[in-house]
Order: sequence, then C-alpha cells, then structure tokens
Amino acid sequence: MKHLKSIFLIFVQIIYYVKNSSASFNLYLSPQEMQRHLGLQAELYYVQDNRINEYALNFTLLLPPKLNTLYFTWKNTDSQELPYSISVETSNRAAIPYPKLNISSSGSVPTSTQTFAVSVPCTETIDAEVLISININVTFPGNNVTKLHLSRRKTCINENLKPYASKNSLTFADSSSVFYIAVCCAVLLILVLGVLITIYYVTDKKNKVAKSSGTGPGTTTTTFLATLPRNSVNISSYASFRRMPSYSLLDERSKDLQERITDLTVQRCRIRLSSIILEGTFGRIYQGSYTNEEGNEDTVIIKTVADHASQIQISLLLQEGMAMYSLNHKNILSILRVSIEDHTAPFLLYPFNNYKNLKIFLQKCKVSSEGVHHTLTTQEVVHMALQIIKAMQYLHKRHLLHKDLAARNCVIDDSLNIQVADNALSRDLFPSDYHCLGDNENRPVKWLALESLLHKTFTPSSDVWSFGVLLWELTTLAQQPYIEIDPFEMAAYLKDGYRLAQPINCPDELFAVMAYCWAMSPEERPTFTQLHVFLQEFFAQLTKYV
Ligand SMILES: *[C@@H]1O[C@H](CO)[C@@H](O)[C@H](O)[C@H]1NC(C)=O
Ligand SMILES: *[C@@H]1O[C@H](CO)[C@@H](O)[C@H](O)[C@H]1NC(C)=O
Ligand SMILES: *[C@@H]1O[C@H](CO)[C@@H](O)[C@H](O)[C@H]1NC(C)=O
Ligand SMILES: *[C@@H]1O[C@H](CO)[C@@H](O)[C@H](O)[C@H]1NC(C)=O
Repeated sequence: MKHLKSIFLIFVQIIYYVKNSSASFNLYLSPQEMQRHLGLQAELYYVQDNRINEYALNFTLLLPPKLNTLYFTWKNTDSQELPYSISVETSNRAAIPYPKLNISSSGSVPTSTQTFAVSVPCTETIDAEVLISININVTFPGNNVTKLHLSRRKTCINENLKPYASKNSLTFADSSSVFYIAVCCAVLLILVLGVLITIYYVTDKKNKVAKSSGTGPGTTTTTFLATLPRNSVNISSYASFRRMPSYSLLDERSKDLQERITDLTVQRCRIRLSSIILEGTFGRIYQGSYTNEEGNEDTVIIKTVADHASQIQISLLLQEGMAMYSLNHKNILSILRVSIEDHTAPFLLYPFNNYKNLKIFLQKCKVSSEGVHHTLTTQEVVHMALQIIKAMQYLHKRHLLHKDLAARNCVIDDSLNIQVADNALSRDLFPSDYHCLGDNENRPVKWLALESLLHKTFTPSSDVWSFGVLLWELTTLAQQPYIEIDPFEMAAYLKDGYRLAQPINCPDELFAVMAYCWAMSPEERPTFTQLHVFLQEFFAQLTKYV
C-alpha cells in the first residue's frame, strides 16, 4: 500500500539538479515500458539532463507476477564520460534468487540511447512479496557520485501450492493476474486523479509564480509525463451502464484495463447524495441515487471522503474500494460505479438493496431498549455464517483473499441476507478495530491470524481465522474481541495459546468451529468448503428440532 503514497506526486515534481557540472544524462522508462506497467502512453523520466525526479525515484511500482523483465532507457547527453556502477538486489533470495542485468555492472553511460534489461523471474516455489532494488551510482566529473535507487515490488506465486482441500485444479496464475488487474485499476484511477490534480496544481502554481516571480536557483516545477492518456481525460464522457467485462482477455492487460476503467466511470451529474449513513473523521458513506443513461434511477450507497482528506486517504479509498471489482455473487457487495471528477474526492457507488452495516446492526440488536428486543437465534447465526462462507468460497475460488473479514466489512438486510464487502473507509469509520503496531500501518490486529500479525502473510487459511473472529462477533452481538488485551501483546498472547472465550449462550458446536479456525498452524485450520459442509449439517440438525 505504501507504494501508492507517492503516486500522485509523480506528476508534480520538485526537481533538484545533480551537482554543478556540465555533464548530464537521461534515465527513463520508455512509452512502451509505461504502457506495459500502467497502460499509459508516456515516458517517465527518473533523470532528465541533470535533473533528478525524486518523486518518481521514490515511487515503488508494483509488478504483476508474470512480468519478468524490466527495461530502462538511458543516454549520456554530453561529451563527458560518465562512469557508472549498477547492482540489483531482492529482499527475498528464495523467491527471486538471480536478478540479472544485460549490461555490465560497471562501465560508462552510453552516449547513444540504450535500453537495458533487468530480469527478475520468480522461482514459483514460494509465495512472497519481494522488494527489488536497482541501485545505480553515476560518477560526475570531480568525483561527485550521484546515487539512484529504484524500487519495484513483485508478488511471487507458488505454482505448486494447492491450498485447497477440494479437487478443483485452478492455477494461481489467473488469480494473480486478477489481483494485479484489481490493483492496477486502482493505480490507474489514481493516476487519472493525479493528472487532474496536477493540472489543478500546475495552474495554481503558475498563478503563484507569476505573482512572486522567480523560483530559487536550481529548483523548478515541471510535469514529466509528456503525453497524457487520452482515455483518462474524457473517461467519463462515454461510460455506460453496461455489465462488467469478464476475466477473459487477461493477456491484453493494459488495453483491458483502460476499458475496465472506462466501463466503471460515470459522470458526477448522474449521482445525487441524499442522506449521510456513516461519518468518520474523513470518510463518509451516503445514501443517494444514480441515474443511468436510460434515465432509470437506482438507490445506491456512496463511499467518499471529505474535502480535507489527504491524497493517501483518497488513494486508499480507491485501492480498497476496487478490491471487489467485477465480482458477481449474491453474498458479495461488488462496486458498481466510480466517479472521479476534477478537484473533488472520488465517489464509489455500491448497490443499496436496503443493506446496513453488519457490525452496527449487531450492536443495535444488543442495545435495543425500546421493547422490540431482537436477539439472534443460533439458527439465524448459522444462516448468516453460511452466507459469509459462500462469499468466501467464491472469493477463494477466484484466488482473491479478503484480508480484512469482519462484521464491519459485511452488510445485512432485514431478512438477514448478508453480503461481504470491501474494507474501504473501515479504518476511519471503525477506528477502535484497527491498531498501529509502530509501523505506520493501521491493521485489524485482533482479527488477524498469528502469521498475518507476525509476518504479514495472508493465505486462504488466514481468512478462515478472521472468519472465526467474525463468527464470535455474530454470537456476541459485535463485542470487541480481546478487549482486555493490549494490541502490542496480541502476538505473544496468541502464541501462548490463548484464544477468545466461548460466548455465553454459544452452543459448543459453534464454539468448536471457531476454535478450529484459530489453530496455530494454518494447515490445521478448516477450509471454507469444510466449514460449509459442517455448518450446513449443523443447520439441518437445528431445524429438525424446531
Ligand atoms: C525520497 O526518499 C528519501 C529517502 O527515503 C527521502 O529522504 C526523500 O525525502 C524522498 N523524497 C521525496 C520527494 O519524497
Ligand atoms: C554506490 O556507492 C555506495 C557508496 O557510496 C556503495 O555503498 C554502493 O554499493 C554503490 N552502489 C553500486 C551499485 O555500486
Ligand atoms: C538488453 O536486452 C534488451 C531486450 O532483451 C535489448 O533490447 C537491449 O538492447 C539489451 N541491451 C544490451 C546492452 O544488450
Ligand atoms: C562536487 O560536489 C560539491 C558539493 O556537492 C561541489 O562543491 C563541487 O563543486 C562539485 N564538483 C564538481 C567538479 O562539480
């Protein structure tokens, strides 16, 4: 997620000049390379003449698992010789053991345009998120060394691993592509937003510069992306309310991506906010309406942020809101539309269907003092749990992990129909469910499996753990789990074998399911398929006696 922080900033750069020297060189990603990464026809300069684009350098691009080679283009634009040394490192030698370069590790920056390749193939024997660092030192005359540090993040997938007990022979390859596409959609949206913000910023800046006249020596503001993607600018003008495309065409990634963005985007004028449902410090959930091109009006839920939200908050909203993109299951709340417009926060639209937030629904059950006291029966709890299991089976079949399964991220209607939703804005709307363990990352500590807490590893089994906590929430009407435990102590507490206690009135069978979900070792936890079979049987037994 961190890589998103700087993405807006690519477009607006404060540039500093490499030392006082007449020598200069360029280092950039060619338009073809940018097309491959982000679906944009543009060049991205890391160094242009002797100016360094620090924001672009700091930005960690996310690579799809199948992308094994990175290309960089460079050229010495002056007559002076520029010695360089280059090295490539990976954070996980087991996942990417041999990063390779097709230029020598030291030499002189060529005086004609050269493209060099960095190959970073995964071994495909372990699942890992690997950080790739490319370090280049360029020595300017006078022994001034400029150090450039480029980073990429790549998700390696274990092709042999079959974490499912079932016999389906799905491969992880599509899953990662799907995941990548989801992430890329988010990135692209953010890029689009970034372009708009830049336009705004640059205009704003120009006015300021005109007034104050003259910037500091050696500092200037410029836009490095020479050509803007045409699609992004007039994206909203021809979006229609079509069904979302299926997952075919995975190989035409970038083209497909732009189509997908185009498909989801709608004009702001078609959306009307009517009432606020939930409000955080910056996050807002509204009820409103969306009028499609045929003039039909649908009630929708709109997730957005307030004007004072930061760009990081906006990018998180987009990234997380796109996680459930293009899914079609009755127990999943899939994003319907997105509206991104100049100078305003994006709107994420979801179908309404009279759904409410599950956590708030459960809490209301508990405190309803006005006579209509509603407690959930075991049967109702199991019925709810089964729907969540179905949603999770669907997600896992598509090789998508939820990573934040909890009552707050589900919605429910009056007939107890449940949908699993994404976690966009949950950190803000349910701040007491998230904790920061000193690493700037706000995580749902008390819902996380031990291995996710310790090593940030996520698997279908870690979703099963969270499901166990969600089941506990259902049976306690959304009490806070481990309320007495300090978040910093959680890992030690779980390692010592402590778990959540059996709720009052919770049948042993249900508690056994939860405890099973919290097995220390991920392999010992049940799969959602097994949970489905077990709870289905339990449900049948319950209905027999009623
Ligand atoms: C880039 O990263 C370096 C080191 O992490 C930091 O010192 C610098 O301020 C960053 N620059 C920008 C423009 O974010
Ligand atoms: C660049 O220079 C630093 C010291 O200034 C050194 O530690 C590093 O290994 C060099 N990197 C390369 C790629 O040569
Ligand atoms: C490195 O490989 C790429 C493509 O494989 C090629 O275009 C480029 O010319 C190569 N560069 C060198 C210096 O061999
Ligand atoms: C090298 O860098 C130093 C300070 O960064 C500067 O004072 C000096 O002029 C530079 N030398 C040359 C030859 O550019």
